[in-house]
Amino acid sequence: MSKPRVLVTRAVFPETIDKLKQHFDVEANTDDAEWSSEELIRRLQGKQGAFTTGSVKIDEALLAACPDLKICANMAVGYNNFDVDAMARHGVMATNAPDVLTETTADFGFALLMATARRITESEHFLRRGEWKKWSYDMFAGSDVHGSTLGILGMGRIGQGIARRGALGFGMKVIYHNRSRLDASIESELRASYVSKEELLKSADHLVLVLPYSPAAHHAIGAAELKQMKPTATLVNLARGGIVDDAALAEALRDRTIAAAGLDVFEGEPAVNPSLLTVTNVVLTPHIASATIPTRRAMADLAADNLISFLGGNGPLTPIVS
Ligand code: DGY
Repeated sequence: MSKPRVLVTRAVFPETIDKLKQHFDVEANTDDAEWSSEELIRRLQGKQGAFTTGSVKIDEALLAACPDLKICANMAVGYNNFDVDAMARHGVMATNAPDVLTETTADFGFALLMATARRITESEHFLRRGEWKKWSYDMFAGSDVHGSTLGILGMGRIGQGIARRGALGFGMKVIYHNRSRLDASIESELRASYVSKEELLKSADHLVLVLPYSPAAHHAIGAAELKQMKPTATLVNLARGGIVDDAALAEALRDRTIAAAGLDVFEGEPAVNPSLLTVTNVVLTPHIASATIPTRRAMADLAADNLISFLGGNGPLTPIVS
């Protein structure tokens, strides 16, 4: 019997390709080219499985043009690149890569929060430009992290990892808002209190966004929300571009409506709103929150294992339940 055929749509670890080759006839995007949707459709002809990353769009038009496709396995926990309703209509299984990146992403969330609150990149740029001539009492004075109020919007696995670090590591008061409230036992373990979105915006010294993207979450943080925050507050977006109105944020940073922001994700990335590049009180990173070698390997392994299990007739390991 011939092996199922699988397309690996972006470059990935050679070991992952070798593993897939033990089970499938594999075509891989080894030079990591950004394929157009036409190119992707052409290469998916006759393929039963696709190994995807968050930048590869799986939509109605593609699904209609690829009748052999049975599963798309995303090497990401987020899956806003998938039209999951269209996938269900076409009988295409959708899987993601949850859990394996939780702690790494929460670590990065904290790194970005610290860098933002303590103005680390801004001060490093100053030093590299040769502008450091003397000590002064308020030079790059930022805001405290320990003992402050940490606000979390979206309290899934990564949000809980950030809450744990804040409460247990930094003695922060943790408040959160989420679609649903956590069990009392988890709230007490995390020392986290549920509040309304308005209260969260008003009270947080540091607000971290970790909610999944959905059309309802589009511009959940825009000009009106930024105005409700403290002028001393910092905002960190680890979630997805589009949840923050980046143009409104750049204006709020310029006007000091809030003190600073740290962004790992952007509307329309890898493009970055040019107005964000002109403000100094923002730390910008290129969507690297899950980027450690062990975690990226675990994410790639889980996506590969979903393909192997599902196309081997044993069901998906981590199906997307939306
Ligand atoms: C995810 O897994 O959704 C991350 O954003 C990709 O690094």
